[in-house]
Amino acid sequence: MTTPIYYVNAEPHLGHAYTTIIGDAITRWSRLMGNDTKFLTGTDEHGLKIQQAAEAAGVTPQAFTDEIAPKFAAAWDKLNIANDDFIRTTEPRHRAAVAELLQRCYDAGDIELDTFAGKYCVACEEYYSDDELIEVDGTEGCCPTHRTPVEYFEEENYFFRLSRFQDRLLDWYAKHPNALTPEQRGNEALGLIRGGLRDFSISRTSLEWGIPLPWDDKHVTYVWFDALTNYLAAVGFGDDTQDYTDWWPATHLIGKDIVRQHCVYWPAMLLSAGIEPPARWAIGGWLLVGGEKMSKTSGNVVDPLDLIDDVGLDGFRYYVLAETAYGNDGDFTYEGLVGKYNTDLANNLGNLAARVATVVTKKCGGLGTAPDPDSVLAEAARTAFTDTAKFWDDLQPSKALDATWGLIRATNGYLEQNEPWKAEPGDAVDAVMGDALEALRIVAILCSPAIPDTAQAVWERIGMTGLVVDQRLPDAAAWGQYPAGNEVIKGDPLFPRIKL
Ligand code: ME8
Ligand code: MG
Repeated sequence: MTTPIYYVNAEPHLGHAYTTIIGDAITRWSRLMGNDTKFLTGTDEHGLKIQQAAEAAGVTPQAFTDEIAPKFAAAWDKLNIANDDFIRTTEPRHRAAVAELLQRCYDAGDIELDTFAGKYCVACEEYYSDDELIEVDGTEGCCPTHRTPVEYFEEENYFFRLSRFQDRLLDWYAKHPNALTPEQRGNEALGLIRGGLRDFSISRTSLEWGIPLPWDDKHVTYVWFDALTNYLAAVGFGDDTQDYTDWWPATHLIGKDIVRQHCVYWPAMLLSAGIEPPARWAIGGWLLVGGEKMSKTSGNVVDPLDLIDDVGLDGFRYYVLAETAYGNDGDFTYEGLVGKYNTDLANNLGNLAARVATVVTKKCGGLGTAPDPDSVLAEAARTAFTDTAKFWDDLQPSKALDATWGLIRATNGYLEQNEPWKAEPGDAVDAVMGDALEALRIVAILCSPAIPDTAQAVWERIGMTGLVVDQRLPDAAAWGQYPAGNEVIKGDPLFPRIKL
């Protein structure tokens, strides 16, 4: 499982956190299901955009990237991201992989010298034809993503003969109908291929900050050819001592801004080099602020770490995962963040945990009771597990969480129907609370990919030992495992309500 490697021209913002948290949660789910899963993220450090940012800061590009890259790694630590590698494109293992891939494509005859003349967006690090450019506030020739003017340049470049790959790509995608998800975004990617493919330049002579071509060191590798190769570099491609196919092909999580490079250029580069294309691409929408893409270029960035101060780490992670269906654009508002927190976390999950602990403390002597094998909640738990698993498999976290929350809502409803807080202590209360405790045990496991700290806290409050991350599905979700006699702890509210 991979995220894009982010440009280090600026510090991490909410948009980067968005994709990284989603990748983290999908990885955690996969591990719960017993799959050995490697999760990769990193930083994209070459190219004109970084060179210019370093110049503006008055330092060398290497010093500049050495300063910013650790800020990404530190942000992911704070967001509880369980990546097991962090690749920087300035590392030797990456340079070796790029040289190897370039050489293979060159040897296959798919890279040739030619003259480039055209338009380039430095913010995208991408070439544009005139018909792709848009007018912004009376200025013609602006980038459709960044809405800023593009640059014209002309020089001798090596080109990757992408135009030869239209049929091969369409054939490959036809044979792998589930590779692109969600479907509508996948269709946009296929549309780019059907619309016709132009060769693209893979080298620059006017740029210094990059990896020299192995056969012609007057040229520096185009930053996208360089960056995409990170996914192979991190699993040992270009290193004779490792078998990269242990982990290849990968699932790539990307934003809709980088579909052309990932779903068109990348599989063509791989086919040229005789390497299997990725297993899957999950294409996400953008988080917008006031209707615009949050980006450094638009100057509307939100720092994820500020939001954690307000709603807590899991409040923030939950919002990112649950608010918007993956693939769609989402509008970030502070009201939306707090609203989601109050409804789903404070009122639903937090309230359930508090109610259960209160009643068990008051009416069951603080000790958990056993669930009824035939409880109505058993069916709700089975449905919750099946649907949660299906939607994580479909790479749809918001739907997966809604399925998990179905069990929370069912359990709250069950308690409201039975009102154990009004009843005298005895068998009837014990039976209801055993069911609720068992539901909470299953909820803790199912919600753990999204809100790992909270899941562990719930687990401990109902007296379970060990770690939620060590549980294995589907077995751990089977109804009836909550042991009678566990000590139940009340604790502080998990999610105190927040006033706007
Ligand atoms: O494109 N909403 O890096 P990048 C949602 N280095 N996701 C967002 C977002 C937003 N407002 N802003 C950024 C690059 N993202 C290249 C990638 S990969 C081989 C090279 C996320 O720093 C989203 O996943 O511009 C998007 O595709 C990615 O960050 C782009 O990050
Ligand atoms: Mg970008």
